[in-house]
Amino acid sequence: MNPRHFISLLDLSGAEFRTLIQRAIELKNNRDPDFQPLKGQVLAMIFEKSSTRTRISFETGMAQFGGSAIFLSPRDTQLGRGEPIKDSAKVISSMVDGIMLRTHDHATVTEFAEHSSVPVINGLTDLLHPCQLLADMQTYFEHRGDIKDKTVTWIGDGNNMCHSYINAAVLLDFKLNIASPDNYLPDSEIVKSGGERIQIFNNALDAAKDSDLVVTDVWASMGQEEEQKQREIAFKDYQVNQSIMDNAHADALFMHCLPAHRGEEVTAEVIDGSQSVIYSAAENRLHAQKALLELLMGA
Ligand code: CP
Ligand code: NVA
Repeated sequence: MNPRHFISLLDLSGAEFRTLIQRAIELKNNRDPDFQPLKGQVLAMIFEKSSTRTRISFETGMAQFGGSAIFLSPRDTQLGRGEPIKDSAKVISSMVDGIMLRTHDHATVTEFAEHSSVPVINGLTDLLHPCQLLADMQTYFEHRGDIKDKTVTWIGDGNNMCHSYINAAVLLDFKLNIASPDNYLPDSEIVKSGGERIQIFNNALDAAKDSDLVVTDVWASMGQEEEQKQREIAFKDYQVNQSIMDNAHADALFMHCLPAHRGEEVTAEVIDGSQSVIYSAAENRLHAQKALLELLMGA
């Protein structure tokens, strides 16, 4: 039987996404140390980019479920020395029960999944960051209830996080306003897949109007460090500050996947202010991914 992978949010149906969010909330609120659905199972975690939250949440989640996780960096594995993805996927998946992969090129994850005999989870690629959306959506549901028909505003780079927000808008049926500089718009095919729910703005203030959730991310993602200076210029009018939050609904929330650069994409006033739920969303990486691990690897 083919394993079930989680490469994109679109590997879930909208109903499954809602069920997963409810399960994550349940696991968070009623933690039972004797509940070990993944007892003896092993998750291999391959990181070709840095991580704090993703690594700790998957490793802790596996431990709490009675299993364990192996951290693999390209520095210490043959993958980093050019061993073919196909061979790596076949070999690693013959020994473990699940694989989480964080890498640059999205095609690496899809190729890995094609040759893996166990579930493969996308822990971030240049194109998508679906695990973060599980946690962000759980956080919204916990604070404000169902997000259906609400308005979310994305301000900044049309990057992996923005693409996963578009996927979430499709699955959970919310409106998504996106304000990005001209040369940093999200992928046009992904925007198209969101249909009329997605609206593109070239002004951050307009995009934030009557919004229920304002989200941003760093201007230069991992792998784009050398573009930092040029991006600071391009994104200077796309900072989430108090005027942006004041244009949104009074009870709007603010999210950022972290790590954040205060004073660049968001002011300290906003990210450390009362509308910000960044730490709640970061913690929910653990709970949401436990629900995901249970779905993919549980009996
Ligand atoms: N948000 C997120 O994925 O954080 P890490 O890069 O620390 O895993
Ligand atoms: N867009 C950021 C997200 C980090 C979690 C990056 O890819 O670096």
